[in-house]
Amino acid sequence: MGRLHCFPLLQLLIMQSQMIGLSASGFPVPPLEQDDGGTRWAVLIAGSNGYDNYRHQANVCHAYQILKTGGLKEENIVVFMYDDIAGNPENPRPGVIINHPKGGDVYAGVPKDYTGDDVNVNNFVAALLGDRSRLTGTGSGKVILSGPNDHVFVYYADHGGPGILGMPNGEFLYAKQLVQTLEKKYSGGAGYKSLVIYVESCEAGTIFDGLLPRDIAVYATTASNSTEFSYAAYCPDDDEPSEFHTCLGDLYSVAWMEDSEAHNMRVESLKEQLERVRNRTGTHSHVMEYGDLDISAQKVHAFMGTNPANDNITVADLRVQPSAERELPRDTMARRAEEDRRFDLISSFLLGSEKGHALTAGRLAGQPLVDDWRCLETMVSSYEDHCGPLSTYGRKYLRVLASVCNAGIPEEVMAKAASQLCWTVFSAQARANN
Ligand SMILES: *[C@@H]1O[C@H](CO)[C@@H](O)[C@H](O)[C@H]1NC(C)=O
Ligand SMILES: *[C@@H]1O[C@H](CO)[C@@H](O)[C@H](O)[C@H]1NC(C)=O
Ligand SMILES: *[C@@H]1O[C@H](CO)[C@@H](O)[C@H](O)[C@H]1NC(C)=O
Repeated sequence: MGRLHCFPLLQLLIMQSQMIGLSASGFPVPPLEQDDGGTRWAVLIAGSNGYDNYRHQANVCHAYQILKTGGLKEENIVVFMYDDIAGNPENPRPGVIINHPKGGDVYAGVPKDYTGDDVNVNNFVAALLGDRSRLTGTGSGKVILSGPNDHVFVYYADHGGPGILGMPNGEFLYAKQLVQTLEKKYSGGAGYKSLVIYVESCEAGTIFDGLLPRDIAVYATTASNSTEFSYAAYCPDDDEPSEFHTCLGDLYSVAWMEDSEAHNMRVESLKEQLERVRNRTGTHSHVMEYGDLDISAQKVHAFMGTNPANDNITVADLRVQPSAERELPRDTMARRAEEDRRFDLISSFLLGSEKGHALTAGRLAGQPLVDDWRCLETMVSSYEDHCGPLSTYGRKYLRVLASVCNAGIPEEVMAKAASQLCWTVFSAQARANN
């Protein structure tokens, strides 16, 4: 007991206030994140290419900078980006990518682990599973080699669509395949301690709703619910430098990133970040959460680290809300009209639906988009074999194809419909051209 008296009074007061959770000013302070010795890993992926989609790769580069500043090691962050933006002839600032109208370069230093055609479903799944033998192409070979004490953060940015995440090359990543990959990675706790996944895409709720189990230590948040678009931010005619002619970011994405940059992540929980992001995104789309919601009580620091410069920040106001535009690709109007017409016909022939109905006839919340994901993949292939690839705009019609599966319509019937439909479309065009 005697030694206690030797403590200076101030130090004693600090000790007491720490014990009862009071800051020097007397306000309760949240408990700080304790480092549990696990390694932080991350996979960052932009699912698009082309200058019109500048924002997705800008988001991913920005996310890399945040994690790097937060203390993650480059060797633990795997980046998938097509890498056609910085050097794009349309880029008004050659060699530079920004993610905010007044923001600095986020491109410098970003590792080019998987670029170009190496950004595909196979390599993404291989990297997440830590399976080098599955990788194809000429990427860095970096994969997630996490163990039972480690935390993994996954961030995806693209247009997406019902039940799918787009890739700049090759097949879609289907929701079921993503969830199966996460289950495999977890393998009873051997693959990671907890995993957080943030998804920026349209109809992003369909990736997890009714699919993501609560017992594989995965916490997911999405930019949008199952039936709505997500939104771009810092767009032309907005407050961005006028020479860009493309959006610089996406609303949900810049919301979580600017929040992470502005706070001490040792203090802020994932749930608090969700609420701030929700608050900022909420006038446009519903930010959702899925999976093991208990994980949301953890500090963001466990996954993203924290910028030491923010150590003394406890509260910070978010920047002004940017105006936003729908996360819509810029396909030609003629192409859109053609896809609209085809799917109206598919809906009415196969589902007996009135115009547009199959697109809005959603499933209940908590129900997956489709019961048989193999069927959905088959229907998509069947359609694309006869009618050519779905455009980014046309991806919304995966919901119609999902309804075709849910209605139990056999693949042959769909194949026949697609072949007749697109033969008719093509020959009608041929006639019109003659
Ligand atoms: C999803 O978004 C749509 C469109 O904004 C909205 O009408 C619907 O209520 C939302 N559903 C949920 C479960 O948030
Ligand atoms: C949400 O935004 C409003 C307006 O900017 C602000 O007053 C409020 O405190 C915010 N709420 C949260 C939980 O961040
Ligand atoms: C935070 O506050 C402490 C104590 O006042 C100070 O020593 C430290 O330099 C500050 N850190 C930053 C990053 O401002």
